[in-house]
Amino acid sequence: MSHEEAQLERIVNLGGDRHKILEFYEDWASTYARDVVEGIGYTGHVLTAKAVTARVGPEAEILDVGCGTGLVAVELKQRRPALRIDGIDLTRGMLDEAEETQAYRSLVLGDMNHPLDADDDTYDGIVSSGVFTTGHVGPERIDELVRVARPGAPIVLAIRDTAWEGEGFSAHVDLLERQGRLRVEESRREPYLLKTGVFCQLCVLAAA
Ligand SMILES: C[S@@+](CC[C@H](N)C(=O)[O-])C[C@H]1O[C@@H](n2cnc3c(N)ncnc32)[C@H](O)[C@@H]1O
Repeated sequence: MSHEEAQLERIVNLGGDRHKILEFYEDWASTYARDVVEGIGYTGHVLTAKAVTARVGPEAEILDVGCGTGLVAVELKQRRPALRIDGIDLTRGMLDEAEETQAYRSLVLGDMNHPLDADDDTYDGIVSSGVFTTGHVGPERIDELVRVARPGAPIVLAIRDTAWEGEGFSAHVDLLERQGRLRVEESRREPYLLKTGVFCQLCVLAAA
């Protein structure tokens, strides 16, 4: 097993302990982007950026949840340079790397398992790749994304396929749709870690 694959195994086994997750990403921050893109062929940032830019205007306000080192925002800005992107992440070291990209309007240290410091109906689009998953942020926190998204705004999530079914994401999205709180615009399986054969569910929701 490669170093990068071993890292992914470790994340899944952290059991959702906030301090362990923080420590893990602090240690990984300086090589994370290279390790995941070159090491294991990560596609989440590209998939989510493409899906968001297809659905928002050129100067849209976007929230990147669990922005990490900024891979998603760099992709977004390459496609739409005038987007105004706010990032939030649990890990200082990851945010420091994100700052270097200069792709963000603002970067905030915060925990998605707590309420976001944003008014209702604030964002034109929300994106999150690799964050709503095993041991990180659970399905019920999608409700908070719906709260801060403007009506009709796309909420684009890349969720590892094992978590999509196994951790209740699919069931929770169905519930929110039945309750009329969002609409599922697209939900499909996509290659996620090209070098390890792992897939994700790419999910495009529209806030009600
Ligand atoms: C696999 S990385 C994905 C980073 C980025 N979205 C990307 O596509 O490269 C997961 C990120 O989620 C962050 N994270 C984990 N739990 C979090 C939480 N509860 N609130 C906010 N961010 C969290 C980690 O610090 C890490 O930067």
